[in-house]
Amino acid sequence: MNYPTQRPATWLVTGTSRGLGLELVTQLLRRGDNVAATTRSAQRLLAALGDLDTSRLLALELDLGDEQAVAAAVEQTTDRFGSLDVVVNNAGYGFLAAVEETTDRDVRAMFDVQVFGVWNVLRAVLPVLRKQNGGHVVNVSSVLGMTAVPGWGLYSAGKFALEGLTEALAGEVADFGVGVTLVEPGYFRTSFLTRDSLALPESTVDAYPALREMVANHLELQGNQPGDPVRAVEQIIARVTAGTTTPLRQVLGSDAHAYATAKVAALQDNLDRTRDSAPVTDYPAA
Ligand SMILES: NC(=O)c1ccc[n+]([C@@H]2O[C@H](COP(=O)([O-])OP(=O)(O)OC[C@H]3O[C@@H](n4cnc5c(N)ncnc54)[C@H](OP(=O)(O)O)[C@@H]3O)[C@@H](O)[C@H]2O)c1
Repeated sequence: MNYPTQRPATWLVTGTSRGLGLELVTQLLRRGDNVAATTRSAQRLLAALGDLDTSRLLALELDLGDEQAVAAAVEQTTDRFGSLDVVVNNAGYGFLAAVEETTDRDVRAMFDVQVFGVWNVLRAVLPVLRKQNGGHVVNVSSVLGMTAVPGWGLYSAGKFALEGLTEALAGEVADFGVGVTLVEPGYFRTSFLTRDSLALPESTVDAYPALREMVANHLELQGNQPGDPVRAVEQIIARVTAGTTTPLRQVLGSDAHAYATAKVAALQDNLDRTRDSAPVTDYPAA
């Protein structure tokens, strides 16, 4: 994609009243770009933006799980700004519990946001980007979309699903000039680890005391995460404005890079140890 330089670019960002989404909207409006910002509460978003010039903002209050509402929001965006250049699927939340403590409702709620919601957005925006032969999709995953650890099973399940669809998407739309970036942050100082965002199970199982300790430690980590959301958003914008010939994955944070590196090493070790056993299931050569 050739990022527009002769006119303000138009961005659509999901999950914008807090954290990375709010910071992204803030930096984009300061740059003079057009921003369609989805949120569950336009009032919270506008209050958070304070006295920033919002003349280039379209606040869209909607449920990302509602496909028709998402399609209508995308139409409103192109009607208002006459363009759509960058789409950022950012909305998401954490959930900390053992796999067996996670209810069917918990799983569906997470997937509604991190998978079905993203898919709703993609179905609505891709025809626009494809027809104009350009654009950029940024899907905000996590380092926990590459590696999973105890307690984060549901969150990782959602992010792994997001990573799978995003890798496939990148290959599908490259010929249409549409760039795709998978953002993989480590711990960043947003609202992510506050009780406004972090979800916990309705009931717990006594067999997992280490997980209860982990929840307490995570809530205490709030305010001390190593990652700076302002710098994260600067990097995301820089990557998009640089065009499409950039790597798919944008790992953010030294913690994320270390976790991802350890995952790749473990995966390589696993592959090395199954090199001889994997081919035994092939049909014998004729
Ligand atoms: N901060 C981290 O440490 C970290 C690490 C790795 C990945 N991430 C990812 O980064 C993205 C942004 O998170 P953040 O750190 O900025 O956290 P945040 O400060 O809690 O903000 C999350 C945003 O997602 C939206 N959201 C939360 N729950 C939602 C729900 N049930 N339905 C729809 N939207 C919902 C909210 O939008 P509205 O309230 O406006 O609707 C909110 O603005 C998420 O995808 C998260 O998984 C964050």
